[in-house]
Amino acid sequence: MANVILVGAQWGDEGKGKIIDVLTEQSEIVVRTAGGNNAGHTVYLGKDKYVLHLIPSGILRPGKVCMIGNGVVLDPIGLVKELDGLEKLGVKVTPANLQISETAHVVFPWHRELDGQREVRKRSNKIGTTKRGIGPTYGDKAARVGLRVIDLIHPVRFPQRLKERLEENNEVLRALGAQPIEYDKVLADYTAAADRLRPFVTNTVVHLHEATRRSANILFEGAQGTFLDIDHGTYPYVTSSSTTAGGACTGSGVPPNRMDRVVGVMKAYTTRVGEGPLPTENAEISDLLHGMGREFGATTGRARRCGWFDAVATRHASMVNGIDELAITNVDGLDTVKTIRVCVAYEVDGQRLNHIPNDCEILARCQPVYEEFPGWETPTDAVQRWEDLPVTCRHYLLSIAQMTGARLTITSVGPAREQTMFL
Ligand code: IMP
Repeated sequence: MANVILVGAQWGDEGKGKIIDVLTEQSEIVVRTAGGNNAGHTVYLGKDKYVLHLIPSGILRPGKVCMIGNGVVLDPIGLVKELDGLEKLGVKVTPANLQISETAHVVFPWHRELDGQREVRKRSNKIGTTKRGIGPTYGDKAARVGLRVIDLIHPVRFPQRLKERLEENNEVLRALGAQPIEYDKVLADYTAAADRLRPFVTNTVVHLHEATRRSANILFEGAQGTFLDIDHGTYPYVTSSSTTAGGACTGSGVPPNRMDRVVGVMKAYTTRVGEGPLPTENAEISDLLHGMGREFGATTGRARRCGWFDAVATRHASMVNGIDELAITNVDGLDTVKTIRVCVAYEVDGQRLNHIPNDCEILARCQPVYEEFPGWETPTDAVQRWEDLPVTCRHYLLSIAQMTGARLTITSVGPAREQTMFL
């Protein structure tokens, strides 16, 4: 399968975790390259449900090496909890199957607090972040004042750097009217987490290059989605990392000319958590999906906003990621819909747009231009072969893939591994 970058082609929550899990079968190494524990991958193994936030879901498969790359921001306390949770479920995690980059940046309590404080101050312009401190941590990284994993595990340097950073951030918190953070507690908690994580910490770039030299198959798993990308998303309603295909290179240290394929994952409809424009948002489909008990966030439990499939957006995603192949998930979510709508263009200020505008205020005023497709009105969740899907369903899926501009290779009709079809 060679080196594959997997990205979300919409606003995150496209069902990447499940596709990653399926593709992991063909890879030796799985690398997470961006984001932090704002992400949540839900994976089902038989009756067991696993929600992973930082550790690649490949950890559930014996013999796979999982890496947390340099592009990730890592909350050590959260990661230790994840390790404990996996252990409780009987999943063995050792330095042989989990490696953590020395240069990933560390999330601290002040980052989380500042994340929350900034949101409150933005009032109606709030982003709707996961409050995991992601933005402030990437902010410190860009400002060159962040602490990295290599600092966290250094017994002498860490207490000193922590003190410096804490003092500065406490001044900011006090000025904002928030509670300052207590040094001793953070030092104790983070030192304990560092002791637990130290054996896993390594130079992941060197390991990845050794692997590429012996032609090992590597899967670069994306987090969030294209329109949450700091550069290519609906700024400022985005996350703070590079969620598009380029982020896989910078977030791992594997160069573009070692990448072979980009797989884009998208739902058969559209969802978004948090604030920001969503041109095809629609109450009818939101009510339908929520009524089915679907579309609640894996990380925060928030109800996701839902809408019809937006081909203008996915076409753009295909462009900026260079998507070669598509996986379409959650097809079964549309099983009861009589007439399915697909957004093929936008209309704004009397003009028709075939691309997504960069100005968020304009995007928020865009009206979708819809094309209609007949629904299949029959359950698809038990279908196991592409040929056995209703003709109307196959027509719909092939049409939205064509509009997106990439080849459909995977279709998913439910959360289980068995509910996956390869074309
Ligand atoms: P942050 O990443 O917590 O700063 O949140 C910024 C925006 O990205 C908010 O709209 C979040 O809801 C969204 N976001 C972050 N992580 C995810 C995810 O894994 N899935 C979907 N949306 C996400």
